[in-house]
Amino acid sequence: MSDHPKKKFIGTLSQKELVKLYSKHVNAPKVRMFKGFGLSVIPGERKGVKLKTLEGLRVGEPPIELYNCHSSGGVFNLGHQNPRIIQLLKNALDGGLDIGDHLLLSEWRALLGKKLAELMPPGITKTTFGVGGGEAVDCAIKFSRAYTKRKGCISAIGGYHGHTGFALLTGDPEFKDPFLWNFPEFQQIPFGDIDAMRKAVTEDVACVILESIPASGGVLIAPEGYFAEVREICDEKGVMMINDEVQSGLGRTGVFWAIYGGLYSDEKVVPDFMVCAKGMSSGVYPLSTCSYKPFIEKSVFKDDPFAQLSTTGGSDLGCAVALEMLEIQSDPKFLDHVKEMGKLFGGGLKEIVEENSDILKETRGRGLMWGLEFFKEEDSQLGMLSIIKEGVLLNYCVNKKDTHIIMPPLIVKKADIEDILKRINKGILNLKKLLT
Ligand SMILES: Cc1ncc(COP(=O)(O)O)c(C=O)c1O
Repeated sequence: MSDHPKKKFIGTLSQKELVKLYSKHVNAPKVRMFKGFGLSVIPGERKGVKLKTLEGLRVGEPPIELYNCHSSGGVFNLGHQNPRIIQLLKNALDGGLDIGDHLLLSEWRALLGKKLAELMPPGITKTTFGVGGGEAVDCAIKFSRAYTKRKGCISAIGGYHGHTGFALLTGDPEFKDPFLWNFPEFQQIPFGDIDAMRKAVTEDVACVILESIPASGGVLIAPEGYFAEVREICDEKGVMMINDEVQSGLGRTGVFWAIYGGLYSDEKVVPDFMVCAKGMSSGVYPLSTCSYKPFIEKSVFKDDPFAQLSTTGGSDLGCAVALEMLEIQSDPKFLDHVKEMGKLFGGGLKEIVEENSDILKETRGRGLMWGLEFFKEEDSQLGMLSIIKEGVLLNYCVNKKDTHIIMPPLIVKKADIEDILKRINKGILNLKKLLT
């Protein structure tokens, strides 16, 4: 095959041209919002734990390098352009794979399904594939309704499961109200409040859906025993338990699943459904998975094997990439590395909180998933800008704006962690100067 003449993919437009086109053809309010922040973070070159901005953070400034501690919510668990993943994808393309045909069986879906069954908490052995997290969440809620023949769904206030149909219904009003999308069967309760859960879960409820560590809701850590009790309540009432590990799964906590030993080492809870996305892609090929216990299959697929379809979800290429990612991330040595880096990072953040206790309230997290809570929302927002200027990309939690969520790629090294902590501290010190 001859070489394609197109060789350049980054920097084909100047920042000015890009912003103009984006505004005209994609999303003008988004452009205005970034302008309002006085920051423009447009990814240019990217490699490993860092990305370079296309041009400067402000017009006329040179590009800067940022540690990617946003990681797009875990998409870049393996960093940018991970060489093993890139090689696998190239080999898969050269080896003849494409998206595959959703109407037919697929060897790569079969192989990935088997691997996931090996890695899941015991008894979760079946997987249905999608492209994004919202789609996988929709799938889990649909299947719960089909199995229980009930409509109710309980989720957490501040929880986030996506912008698609059922997923959107589980979210906060600000996301669904603009679309006139609300049903009384979908109820939100405070996260971590077991009495509220007991009250809400009745025999009309099909499922409870919770993030094992609510990310957009503030990187909250449930009290020990909470998820085990949720499991008991669901069992008592015949309700399906769905855990969303879109951000907290795949080794992010130093344990493969947060719900299964990643929150408290002695607490291993087995939900009925486990939902994954983001990191499933390794940042190069979209894929999401809704995995579940086999008894659920009959009620969904027995009369119609095509009861759930996704043309591009579970593509052959996506499954091949995900399999390679799982090989890497489930390796005990890899998980030990995350634990070790997590300890260093969490310890460093605690010191930063102690040294800046006039504006910082606390830090909480597991592994390499941390929240940094400010006393004031305004300080959190200004703090985000100040830390980005010091070379660390992170963001505040959309449903708890006084808290930053910090998720470095899982491949960070000790020297990166030390540098990131130094830069976060400098960003906080600069913020304090600004405030005085
Ligand atoms: C916990 C969680 N679940 C689900 C989703 C939805 O994933 P997607 O954006 O791929 O639809 C997200 C996205 O941010 C998420 O953070």
